[in-house]
Amino acid sequence: MKKVTVNASRVYDIIIDKGILDRAGELCATVKKPCRAAILTDSNVAPLYLARLEKSLSGAGYETVSYTIPAGESSKSAENYLAFLSFLAQNKITRSDCIFALGGGVVGDLCGFCAATYLRGVEFIQIPTTLLAMVDSSVGGKTAIDIPEGKNLVGAFYQPSLVICDYDTLSTLPDDIFTDGCAEVIKYGLINDKELFCKLKNPIMPQIEDIIENCVRNKRDVVDADERDTGVRQLLNLGHTAAHSIEALSDFAISHGSAVAMGMAIILRAAAALGHISKEDCDEAIGRISSYGLPTDCPYSARELADVALNDKKRQGGSITLIMPFGIGDSRLYKVSVDSLEEIFKAGL
Ligand SMILES: NC(=O)c1ccc[n+]([C@@H]2O[C@H](COP(=O)([O-])OP(=O)(O)OC[C@H]3O[C@@H](n4cnc5c(N)ncnc54)[C@H](O)[C@@H]3O)[C@@H](O)[C@H]2O)c1
Ligand SMILES: [Zn+2]
Repeated sequence: MKKVTVNASRVYDIIIDKGILDRAGELCATVKKPCRAAILTDSNVAPLYLARLEKSLSGAGYETVSYTIPAGESSKSAENYLAFLSFLAQNKITRSDCIFALGGGVVGDLCGFCAATYLRGVEFIQIPTTLLAMVDSSVGGKTAIDIPEGKNLVGAFYQPSLVICDYDTLSTLPDDIFTDGCAEVIKYGLINDKELFCKLKNPIMPQIEDIIENCVRNKRDVVDADERDTGVRQLLNLGHTAAHSIEALSDFAISHGSAVAMGMAIILRAAAALGHISKEDCDEAIGRISSYGLPTDCPYSARELADVALNDKKRQGGSITLIMPFGIGDSRLYKVSVDSLEEIFKAGL
């Protein structure tokens, strides 16, 4: 078992171990005395894990009610947000109760935003079941829903009270979704953890507890330093400026993990062209990304990528902050003028 403590506006633990879904009740009881527990999950996760969570919570004295949304990004919607709020109200969930997110990042983000806003804030606990949710979305308190104008445009910073990572649940994850999560794991290595990057020479699953802990520690460190994403937390966006453009240009047919892999390859090549990273490091990093079955060639032009990126919410006046690799495990914030973005992407294609 591994435990990582986040010291943000709320102090909470991330507990990482196999089989702990069945001990969720007992673990939750250490932070929240038994109360009514409203669980949000999705249609793929419910048949696999919901009964086990309900049993464990009831065994520890919680009274559970559960709500299942259809699996998929389209469920991170205003409609489901309102529907779950109504469900909470109809079930008379009060401020002394607790909400549980059982699933991937979609369930976690939606549930977190409901928890942030229902009755102006009720406690919530994350039980991530995808690799991406374990290493990224369940930690750090970014919650959101999508609106037709864009992904994650409505949300709140709202930290959970506990994160329970039972990596046994990864055994049922489809291969492509697992691979998507691997892109984020490689990202942490490239940002500031060369040791983690080296571990990724070997398959992830035999060392999964260690790998999740490494990633979560990395995320914890930037969240502790910059909870509201105005400084170093932006490092987590390595490869994401191009990735967000790629996802949007493909109408979301290209998955987030694949887009991040392409985005990291673009910025690595650009960094090599600009002389910031050596050719050897660039080749090694791109080789590692490919070795996980992730794509490193982007089907869009520099102009297309830049146009979409410059309409994105992350633009700040005449400049945009990229995350530039200066070596493996050494990525830095790198402000560029909006006019040079297309050139930088061109150098990376
Ligand atoms: N809040 C943050 O900081 C943050 C960070 C990164 C990503 N995100 C968000 O996370 C979302 C993506 O998360 P995701 O990749 O986990 O997607 P997801 O939640 O859609 O899960 C992917 C698929 O896996 C299924 N699934 C989940 N767990 C399973 C299991 N154990 N076995 C079998 N199937 C399982 C789901 O039903 C779904 O079909 C996006 O909406 C993104 O914006 C948020
Ligand atoms: Zn990402």
